[in-house]
Amino acid sequence: MAKIKVADIKGYKGKRKLTMLTAYDYPLAKLVDKAGIDMVLVGDSLANVVLGLNSTTEVGMVQMLHHAKAVTRAIEQALVIADMPFESYQKHPQDAVDNAKRFIDEAGCDAVKLEWFEQCLQVTEKIVEAGIAVMGHIGLTPQTVDKLGGFKVQGKDAESAKKLIQQALALEKVGCFSLVLECVPDKIAQIITERLSIPTIGIGAGPYTDGQVLVIHDCLGLFDRYRPKFVKQYVNLSAIILDALKQYKQDVEKSLFPDKEHSFTIKEEEIKKLLDSL
Ligand code: KIV
Repeated sequence: MAKIKVADIKGYKGKRKLTMLTAYDYPLAKLVDKAGIDMVLVGDSLANVVLGLNSTTEVGMVQMLHHAKAVTRAIEQALVIADMPFESYQKHPQDAVDNAKRFIDEAGCDAVKLEWFEQCLQVTEKIVEAGIAVMGHIGLTPQTVDKLGGFKVQGKDAESAKKLIQQALALEKVGCFSLVLECVPDKIAQIITERLSIPTIGIGAGPYTDGQVLVIHDCLGLFDRYRPKFVKQYVNLSAIILDALKQYKQDVEKSLFPDKEHSFTIKEEEIKKLLDSL
């Protein structure tokens, strides 16, 4: 299959559901691509699920570029989107453009994602003008979670839901090719999805969005520090890996590994020659 383009993602709206998963390294990105997932997000959730940090605000350009490069090395088909880390786009619109360019030019990503903040429209417009595809992100935006009163569902009353709809329409207007809706009531996600001509990608936003995204470590059971209500765990890889590691420990301790199958040999005559020469 050919590489998926931004135009393909836009074109699928209303025709079929879109799939997106996060990935932060080569082996998992390879599997996501092989599974035929449409979009891979190098999320700043890297901070929590890979680096053991408490907040997504704790990763910067250096870490995000490092992991984005590992992901793009693995991908043949999926559209790769890099999360712009905290403070890489909020300070000055030109910094935002320069940093967005690094994800495209240095890491080989296809697009960037920006979380909503006060000057989001102006910054998004500048990045789009520079020829870079931008995915928006509204609702629960973890980088500014303190301003939202914590990890809570957003848009639960008419007034705040109206604000979300206005943000969504404004982001479409300034050129976003798609929009993540995180932790919003299903009916609000439906209204936004129906009013936009670009695809919406939900996480904790119910079934009516154009597509869905999950953090891959949640999906595979590789992260258990907390599990939000919206997460569906498809397999408990932690348990499978733990069993394998215990088996390895036991095999080594009982001298069952390495066995003949996993060892290299040398001809007896060579050993004899060696011993005679010592
Ligand atoms: O960083 C991330 O994983 C995200 C998703 C939750 C959409 O932004």
